[in-house]
Amino acid sequence: MKTITAQGLKQLTTIVASSRIRVAEPLSKHTYIKIGGPAEVLVEITTTEELSRVYSLALANSWPVFILGGGSNVIVSDKGISGLVIKNRADKLRIVNFKGVYTKGQVAASKVVLEAESGVVTNQLVRFSIDQGLVGLEYFLGIPGTVGGAIYNNSHYRQQLIGNFVSQVNVLDATTGVKKLMSHAEMNFGYDTSVLQQTKDLVLSARFLLSTGEKQATWEKATAFAKQRASSQPLSLPNSGCIFKNLPEEVVKKKALPNASAGYLIDLAGLKGVKVGQIMISEKHANFMVNLGGGKAQDVVDLVNLVIKKIKSKYGVTLEPEVFYVGD
Ligand code: EPU
Repeated sequence: MKTITAQGLKQLTTIVASSRIRVAEPLSKHTYIKIGGPAEVLVEITTTEELSRVYSLALANSWPVFILGGGSNVIVSDKGISGLVIKNRADKLRIVNFKGVYTKGQVAASKVVLEAESGVVTNQLVRFSIDQGLVGLEYFLGIPGTVGGAIYNNSHYRQQLIGNFVSQVNVLDATTGVKKLMSHAEMNFGYDTSVLQQTKDLVLSARFLLSTGEKQATWEKATAFAKQRASSQPLSLPNSGCIFKNLPEEVVKKKALPNASAGYLIDLAGLKGVKVGQIMISEKHANFMVNLGGGKAQDVVDLVNLVIKKIKSKYGVTLEPEVFYVGD
């Protein structure tokens, strides 16, 4: 069903150059796992001002909107997404404040505030922060996705949640399209969650409060984390990161499970290498599903359901997907 008329497209071109507007754009080109049918209309924004104006236009026309960041944690339906898909490329990144005397790469200031727009690639933010001699984000070197997605989902490495370093988030109110500032407390960060999953407010930019430290040592730490991930995860094949959330500690205790890791349990259940169509449970890490080429969203859904059923019958617990299904 078409929701965006020729008139609507024309209005879009008053905000964004027509070279950045595409009709029926295959979303498989924009997701890490290389899955997804067409976006009715995909528009690429490069500034938060454009994001705000495009969103207001969508509100005025009652177009459904989906914001695509890095496309690393989503499974887009084979039927695609109707309405407007906004590909976020707003990527300004800067130091906005510090306490004490700040010299790049030196331990002079005690705290530094970095501001990143939502389309900044998280890995770029991490590299920039380490290069500036800042400490805190090194856990996230090499993680896929953008700042907007990382905030929405409170990305994590082990016990380190990215939200712990966020001091403030600038969002667009989903219902009114008006800008508002959210404090750390208002973001309600938890494991794999933030308040944005309920409000659907759009991230414009986020501020990170970081400490200064020794640059060389921080690079070494970061590289070790990234290496560790590369050695245990199938990063060379198209994937969507971890498919399931790990289990809460109280469930692990109650059911006397050997481990909270979903990957560990799926592996123990003997499911590595199991396939539906061209989607396979990775041989390297069982909480990853890899696309062997031409895999479909429906195959992922079927494989997810198969895993949930098997784990439920074997361990009596229900795994919850960590990836987001989107589209028609
Ligand atoms: N393990 C297995 N077999 C497997 C996978 C894991 O035996 O197929 C074992 C490992 O050997 C280890 C334990 O299970 O003893 C835990 O594995 P791992 O260290 O890989 O951690 P995880 O709990 O499976 C979590 C996050 C990952 C994150 C890693 C960083 C969740 C759901 N997963 O995985 O996050 O990269 O820690 O170590 O929280 C993601 O969010 O997309 C993601 C991949």
